[in-house]
Amino acid sequence: MFDLIIKNGTVITPKESFKADLAVTGGKIACLGQGLEGAKEVYDAEGKFILPGGIDVHTHLAMPFGGTVSSDDYFTGTRAAACGGVTTVFDYVIQRKGQGLVEAADLRLKMAEPEACVDFAFHVAITDLNDKILNEITSCIAYGIPSFKVFTVYKKEGMMVDDGVLVKLLEKSAQVGALINVHAENPDVIDMRIEQFLKEGKTSAWYHYLSRPEFVEAEADKRVIHWAKSLNAPLYIVHLANKEGMEEVIRAKDEGYPIYAETCPQYLAFTCDVYKREDGRNFVCSPPMKGQESQDALWQGIRSGDIDTVATDHCPFTSAEKDWGKDNFTKIPNGCMGIENLYPYLLDAAGKGRLSYNRAVELVSANPAKLFGLAGRKGSLQPGFDADVVVYDPKKDFTIKQTTMHSATDYTIWEGTQLKGYPVRTYSRGSLVYKDGEFLGQKGYGKYLKRNPRS
Ligand code: URP
Ligand code: ZN
Ligand code: ZN
Repeated sequence: MFDLIIKNGTVITPKESFKADLAVTGGKIACLGQGLEGAKEVYDAEGKFILPGGIDVHTHLAMPFGGTVSSDDYFTGTRAAACGGVTTVFDYVIQRKGQGLVEAADLRLKMAEPEACVDFAFHVAITDLNDKILNEITSCIAYGIPSFKVFTVYKKEGMMVDDGVLVKLLEKSAQVGALINVHAENPDVIDMRIEQFLKEGKTSAWYHYLSRPEFVEAEADKRVIHWAKSLNAPLYIVHLANKEGMEEVIRAKDEGYPIYAETCPQYLAFTCDVYKREDGRNFVCSPPMKGQESQDALWQGIRSGDIDTVATDHCPFTSAEKDWGKDNFTKIPNGCMGIENLYPYLLDAAGKGRLSYNRAVELVSANPAKLFGLAGRKGSLQPGFDADVVVYDPKKDFTIKQTTMHSATDYTIWEGTQLKGYPVRTYSRGSLVYKDGEFLGQKGYGKYLKRNPRS
């Protein structure tokens, strides 16, 4: 007797789409087949798609940043995730000065465990490297965290590292099976341009974009790829948003290097024109949205396979906090929301023919699991995997409104976006956590995922 059978749906994998029933027992996928029978509960998914749960590998929940703390905590952030079909969330632990890596992760685990509604994992952002911390990388891997981030920006925030630190970490990562994730922009050029704009009284959100336009991100992408290639270390570029950077990633991949790229829905949906809007400050994130050519290049990378993952960089702030920068763009806390919009946005794009549904599943579920040490457990609807399952109605009309989202925010950059198709159910390890607009999960249900290093 199975716990659950989802009948008559169309199962979407990265390679194919086929009609099948899916059975769940003990929180795991038991089997897929035709005419399955014998379950405590049966759900008829005729006309619906059955997808593996989304894996958002880039979030900042309750993150102290920009003079405040991002407004979604581990409860509201993972609640919103569940309601958007995301069943695994990777949050960034930020090492504070003088803090050990495991110590930093442990503190966040204590915060997250009682709150998370879906399963979660961590990356650790290293901001203060010395020999002791370098040696702690292996302890962190044993803790289940084999991926580490560095920022080439955020000097004033005390989060930036220099190229020497990056190179040390790349060397180490190649030795121990870790992956270095990089936020790449050129800090000195940004600071120089900001100073100049402020002096000239150019203070609107548009100047956030102009202080870090295409070439500022592109230079940093090229530099970090250069170091990774030279050291034969794998590298993952987070929130890639510009055309030249995309081209450099493609070149490195074509040469056979393990260089991976993530982009985010906001770079695929919006261009820098949003910064000319009255509410432009709400779209302020770093790197900023870029011009049409960059957006087109990212979409091309989505279709060609050169983008490896789409994740959100979910880092919401309230509109009152965004208003701090009404008259000075440097005072706007950097970050946008998207955790509930990621999968619906990409699947809507698939319905419109911009990519295939199979590719959407690959970008949001299969590839994140493989790249970040969850292969065999998450990211696929195969027997033995966790029963993280999304039932998606490709015909459902849905208009995004802040009032129907599940984040702790009072606006959304996605307001008014019309989607064809929407998740109608989310199961996390076989448990129904979302149904028809309503969150049904529980605080503390989500489990910490210890991940495997790269082999
Ligand atoms: O603006 C952003 N992206 N805020 C979150 C921190 C980061 O850079 O990823
Ligand atoms: Zn970043
Ligand atoms: Zn981020």
